[in-house]
Amino acid sequence: MPDDKGAARRKKRSASGAAPPAANAPEPAIAALLDENRLYPPSPEFAKSAQVRDDALYREADADLEAFWASRAAELDWFVKWHKVLDWNVPDAKWFVGGKLNVAYNCVDRHIRGARRNKAAILWVGEPGDRRTLTYWDLYREVNRFANGLKKLGVKKGDRVAVYMPMVPELAIAMLACARIGAVHSVVFGGFSAESLRDRILDSEAKVLITADGGYRRGTILPLKHDADEAVKQCPLIEHVVVFKRGDFQVHMKEGRDHWWHRIVDGQSDDCWPEPMDSEDLLFTLYTSGTTGKPKGIVHTTGGYLTGTTATTKWVFDLREEDVYFCTADCGWITGHSYIVYGPLANGATTVMYEGAPDWPDKDRFWQIVEELGVTIFYTAPTAIRAFMKWGPEWPAKHRLTSLRLLGSVGEPINPEAWMWYHKHIGAETCPIVDTWWQTETGMILIAPLPGVTVARPGSATRPLPGIVADVVDEKGETVDVGGGYLVLRKPWPAMLRGIWGDPERFRQNYWSRFPGVYFTGDGAKRDKDGYFWLLGRVDDVMNVAGHRLSTMEVESALVDHPSVAEAAVVGRAHELKGTAIVAFVTIREGREHAAAILDDLKEHVVQKIGKIAKPDEIILTADLPKTRSGKIMRRLLRDIAEGKAVGDTTTLADPGVIARLKTKYEDQES
Ligand code: WTA
Repeated sequence: MPDDKGAARRKKRSASGAAPPAANAPEPAIAALLDENRLYPPSPEFAKSAQVRDDALYREADADLEAFWASRAAELDWFVKWHKVLDWNVPDAKWFVGGKLNVAYNCVDRHIRGARRNKAAILWVGEPGDRRTLTYWDLYREVNRFANGLKKLGVKKGDRVAVYMPMVPELAIAMLACARIGAVHSVVFGGFSAESLRDRILDSEAKVLITADGGYRRGTILPLKHDADEAVKQCPLIEHVVVFKRGDFQVHMKEGRDHWWHRIVDGQSDDCWPEPMDSEDLLFTLYTSGTTGKPKGIVHTTGGYLTGTTATTKWVFDLREEDVYFCTADCGWITGHSYIVYGPLANGATTVMYEGAPDWPDKDRFWQIVEELGVTIFYTAPTAIRAFMKWGPEWPAKHRLTSLRLLGSVGEPINPEAWMWYHKHIGAETCPIVDTWWQTETGMILIAPLPGVTVARPGSATRPLPGIVADVVDEKGETVDVGGGYLVLRKPWPAMLRGIWGDPERFRQNYWSRFPGVYFTGDGAKRDKDGYFWLLGRVDDVMNVAGHRLSTMEVESALVDHPSVAEAAVVGRAHELKGTAIVAFVTIREGREHAAAILDDLKEHVVQKIGKIAKPDEIILTADLPKTRSGKIMRRLLRDIAEGKAVGDTTTLADPGVIARLKTKYEDQES
């Protein structure tokens, strides 16, 4: 009987410990979190020597927000000091108005004059096992030579440069070289398809693309140059393609357009004047998914972004001179921008970059790196932690992890079970865990514990950082002191996005129209009686799949692009490892074959259009989709079906019979 199967599935899923599904419905998740009462105060030893030891920063920020951020900005090197801290004209913020600085100068040059000159800036580990160390002095020379190389290709201040690379030091070098000469980088994650790369290049109007012959992933080669060639074919504005030679992979070099990285830097001077950038000049754009199919280029600027990422790296990770800091993200995401490259380097830290997969050649790869490099701070995503749990504690147990002193988590809500496992098996029950909430748009961490001060609670990102005014509001925008609602930000912060590239209207609509005058995050959250925030996931049509944001529309557009597909609706469903799995309901065009292979074909089509991260976990073929009388697909009902839940209110459906047919069909297909 279909109903029994549904109940069994529900049971199985709720036992999985996966993050609660929260899309459009923050409420059901709240009950599950209410009974999480375990408290983890910082140990006295940790608290004693922590960077932040008391709540003075919170008080300082409460007393005078602008003066507070100005003191943080003053820790950077400015060529010209700002004359006004903040110019706030909703939704347009200008931070450190009139100030001039250079991000590469702050991340590299200022460290080479003193004791950090020969300190490791980047410790790199390639997937096949190769290793490189770049000291700050090495990094200085590499960045300058490449910056001069870019200049020779005609790259100037304000030009956009697309970057599509594996996780090699040259990726960070490329970003810093752009920052040095004032070019705006737009990094595209190497796992994205040629078509996704093309769309991003076209939207940003980049004139140069930096890529590599390939990269390693789980022992196979990512054909980056090949995909870049496919993309560039349709990008008439691209004048030059710079190719870093990562391996010895066969690639085609187009005469006049394509240049090897090593040739470009050959003979270039080690000195390159850092362009004095206005505090509000663009530093980068980074594409992320919104609620429509078209990715948005989030715009970040110079002074505020660097101020915010530099301060938060120090506070949240309790960064010290001798730390070896390892963030497992890819530089193609905001986490890599802010917390592998800019935040750590601005602080003069040693940052680890790893090229490959966590389970290659075996499931202890991260722990091997931690042991070999003596990593002290480790920052990863809940989806990875859930994978570690599944693989079992024997993998970390093979290694000496005693160098670790702090752990972090980012990308999605960390379920308490995963938190406890991380605490026990990686942190030896002594490392504080910082659960950090933020977004591509926020640029910097906004809600997180201060590890020497905050009492942690598994599953809660705890409190907004000093200088951050977050709130939970109801439908009308009124504050909910205790309880669930929408997460908003009431005051501007330095690293906030300055817009969506080329689309000021979308910027207003997306973030500033739901609750006038305040920033709407798109996340649901609950605040408890102690003022702790519990993040509940997205409340719009954005899915968080393995810590990566994808819009349901984006996947739908890719499906509908297939010649056999008439219509598609995509929803997220709770998934044990990935947080959310992608389930697609697809209607095939009349007269098209329903061959069994069509399902694989459709999945492959999505991979080709967007990339592997967007591959649907399940596709349900259906003759019709549930729609309102005005023709709007009711995703809420599809989500209920995919979750195996009792289907909610169907009174607005044009044809209520659709649901019964779909449910039966779904359950048959699942069994
Ligand atoms: C989610 C990643 C709960 C959230 C830095 C947010 C989180 C989206 C957390 C942004 C966290 C990120 N707890 N949810 N600690 N961190 N999220 O732009 O839904 O890739 O809106 O930035 O991830 O994802 P993005």
